Order: sequence, then C-alpha cells, then structure tokens
Amino acid sequence: MIVMSREYDLKPAPSDEGASAIATGKSLINRRQFLSYGFNTVSGVLAASLGVLGFASLLLPPAGSGGGDLAAKYWAKGREDEAWYGPMHEQVMKKSDFVAEAAKSSTGTSGASGVWNGVPIIVTYVDHSKNAGSPVSNGKARFQFMDGYDGTGKYVGHFEDLSDADPRLLPNENLVMIFGRCTHLCCIPGWQLVSNDYTEDTWTPGGGDDGGTKLFCICHSSRFDPTALEMNTNTNRSNGSKFRYAGIRRSGGPAPVGLPIIPIAMNGDFIEGLPDYVDWYTYCD
Ligand code: FES
Repeated sequence: MIVMSREYDLKPAPSDEGASAIATGKSLINRRQFLSYGFNTVSGVLAASLGVLGFASLLLPPAGSGGGDLAAKYWAKGREDEAWYGPMHEQVMKKSDFVAEAAKSSTGTSGASGVWNGVPIIVTYVDHSKNAGSPVSNGKARFQFMDGYDGTGKYVGHFEDLSDADPRLLPNENLVMIFGRCTHLCCIPGWQLVSNDYTEDTWTPGGGDDGGTKLFCICHSSRFDPTALEMNTNTNRSNGSKFRYAGIRRSGGPAPVGLPIIPIAMNGDFIEGLPDYVDWYTYCD
C-alpha cells in the first residue's frame, strides 16, 4: 500500500513574498500551495543553483497560448537556434510536436526540456504503440516495465507494483514526463543537449548503458533511459525520509538512482502534469 504524505517540506526562498508564511517558520506546504507558489517559491529555490539557465525569467507570465495552469512548457533558453523546439521556447508543449519530431527519428523517439510549475522537466515521446509489436532487434524504441534496484543494488520492486495502484503513472499517449534534476548533485540532464554515443539516435532493450537515446547529465556524465520504467527509492533531503517512486532508469554514471515520473494528462493536444507526487521531487534542495 502506498502512503502519500499531504504536505511537502520545501526549502523556502526568503525573497518570495508569496512564501511569507513559509519564511516565518512554517516550512510545510500542501499540494494546493505548491501549485500557487510553483512559479515563485520553487523556481526561486531553483534559481539559486540554476541561475546560469535563467530560471528567474520563469517568474514572468509564460508565452504561448492554450493549456491550463498545469501545462508543461518548452524551455530552450540559449538553444533557441539549436534545439528542435527552440522556436517554441516557453510555449505549451503539444503532443503533435513530439510526434512530428519522432517521425524524423530512426528509433521513433523525441524529447524536449521544459518547465512545469517552475520546476525543470524532460518530456520524451516513444512511438510505443507502433513499435511494441516488432522485434527488439530492429532498434525501434518502446517502453519497458522493469524491476528496480536502489543505489546499493537491493531489489525494491517492479514498476507495475506502483502503476497497478495508480494507472496514471503509465505512459500517456506514448509520452513520459520526468522531474529534471539529476539524482547525483541536482544538475539538469538534457535531451540530446550534447552529442555523444549515449545521446545518439539509437536504441537497445534492457535499460542498459549501451545504445543511445539517453538523457545525459553534463555535470558528471550520468545517463538515464527514458524507455526503461522502474520502481525505485530515494530520500527527502529536508527530513531524511525514504520514499518509493516510479521513474526512468539510471543506466550509468555517478547518479545512484533514476529520475521520477511526473504523471501527465492530455488537455486536447496540450501536455499537462499532475501534482499528485510532489514528495517525489524532494531529493534536491
Ligand atoms: S549532477 Fe548529474 S552527474 Fe553529477
């Protein structure tokens, strides 16, 4: 049985006027407050360590149109002329954009960095519906539901142990969204942010470190396979409590475990995140 806490201990950002209650000593916020403060408190916290990426600008109203308050938005600051989603920087993510980009891929995948409620995310599209019935030897990517092992190698459970309890954790419309903070030292991994053997447009089954199509953290070269979905465990940095989560597999590098999933819902063509698992994003300050 999964026990979900209703309040989440997030480090306050003293400069955020909206977080005054938190700054005066109340450090626990609930899900509604998380949404209200998402573009203030949480992005303010992130701005301290992510200033180079210009997260302060997230305090501005997002550009683009469509989608609700929970909409995921592209983030391509500094890569506007380079990333395929560069021209859509700060616009709401649309499934059709990912499908069109995946059609150019030999593996049937596409991915993009973004922001959701003030936190960094990465959304990956995998043409699972089309590829799942074909032999894995053809290199066409598909989702894999897998056993999970913690940083010590101990078995912790299977992805479906969690997705059976909450099917919203399953890929929705061939899309998976994850919280974009590395479990090593909290840098932001990227989708083909750099070009190397790990990020090239190739795919192999098993969630191993061979093949490409990996999310890559440029800080210390951790790799994550967005097609390999597992259960794992991590620690709330504020209070030390352990939590189980559904995530994508860490395939290599110093990161101890993989990155947690943010379940999504479709609003027409727009991609929206669900705020049900905020406690999964507490392993960074
Ligand atoms: S912070 Fe990602 S590999 Fe070190």
